[in-house]
Amino acid sequence: MYFPVRSGGIVRRKVGDVQAVDGISFEVPEGGSLGLVGESGCGKSTTGRLITRLYTPTAGSMMFRDHDLAKMSNSALKPLRREVQMIFQDPYSSLNPRHTVGTIVGTPLLVHDIVPKKQVLSRVQELLEVVGLNPEHYNRYPSEFSGGQRQRIGIARALALSPKLLVADEPVSALDVSIQAQVINLLQDIQRDFGVAFLFIAHDLAVVRHFCPEVAVMYLGKIVEIGDRESIYSHPRHPYTQALLSAVPDIKQATIGGRRERIRLEGDVPSPINPPSGCRFRTRCPIAQDICAKHEPPLLQIGSRHKVACHFPGEVHKHPTEPITARLLGVDNAGNPDPGATPSPDLVTKPGYDDTWFDLDTKTFGRA
Ligand SMILES: Nc1ncnc2c1ncn2[C@@H]1O[C@H](COP(=O)(O)OP(=O)(O)OP(=O)(O)O)[C@@H](O)[C@H]1O
Ligand code: SF4
Ligand SMILES: [Mg+2]
Repeated sequence: MYFPVRSGGIVRRKVGDVQAVDGISFEVPEGGSLGLVGESGCGKSTTGRLITRLYTPTAGSMMFRDHDLAKMSNSALKPLRREVQMIFQDPYSSLNPRHTVGTIVGTPLLVHDIVPKKQVLSRVQELLEVVGLNPEHYNRYPSEFSGGQRQRIGIARALALSPKLLVADEPVSALDVSIQAQVINLLQDIQRDFGVAFLFIAHDLAVVRHFCPEVAVMYLGKIVEIGDRESIYSHPRHPYTQALLSAVPDIKQATIGGRRERIRLEGDVPSPINPPSGCRFRTRCPIAQDICAKHEPPLLQIGSRHKVACHFPGEVHKHPTEPITARLLGVDNAGNPDPGATPSPDLVTKPGYDDTWFDLDTKTFGRA
């Protein structure tokens, strides 16, 4: 997803692109949940808005059952919109202050003709009960609720259409810590009771630790590492994931498995209008080498459910000294063309996992 950047003045010429989300690839299993984590501005909300087709992607595909959501017209999308719903980042701005809770939760039921008009109110009350609100409060306005309660209204609205996939965009980050756990528990109950799949977007890895068996880490529009819980929390191989894990505040470290040595990242996140060449993380990476500026590291599968995009993936302080990707890319260790080498055809990132992968110890593709 690229957003055009235009010049000022009367003739607003296009002068560049915000490369907000660039060639990411992942899968959310039916009834499962994937966590999507990264710093502010890395493209998480954009990803959520693409999947729910609030944005139309500039390229790529998004398969939902046999439909490519990316290429469908608005009218063809309408029946599918029911099945893919979003909970928004900000419970204060995502609810219309002039509408009652009954109208907010009931409107999707009417628009999609889910229940006869006479039954809308009782369905709304059922939904309010599911999310732990008083069903008699359907006539109240959002301003009469607390932040946590408003987020529950947003969840009730998203549930109204019995979706198959819920994109939850930082559903708890605007809430008090004491309320966060309650809302996460509610989402967990919903997942268990209704079998809804989740794409759960969060700022830090501790929030999604218990909710998501699988986590993807994003940096500046790219997925840099993706894998099951064990791989991401216990065996991260990307320097950025390692830094994120080490930066989780002490009180939350217990939830992700004890204290870790703090890795400080220098500098700011670069602009997505003019991202660094090669690996986008290289300007802040403590172990970057020449090849990192010349070639983008492929998102390589390195375990049965683990992929990483780094030329030097390894444990903290044990990153290899030579790029593991050079031979695959057909270049020498400094990233210069190597006429004798043949680039590997296996580098295109597909969603999900293969049953063969690149073994970091033997440096060959193999099977478990
Ligand atoms: N409609 C838009 N037009 C232009 N640029 C946009 C638009 N929406 C997002 N962007 C840019 O795309 C990048 C990704 O934004 P996005 O909102 O997806 O980040 P995020 O990961 O959700 O951040 P946060 O954690 O702060 O919510 C940012 O640089 C943002 O400025
Ligand atoms: S590819 Fe290079 S710059 Fe990028 S994360 Fe790996 S070592 Fe760092
Ligand atoms: Mg966001």
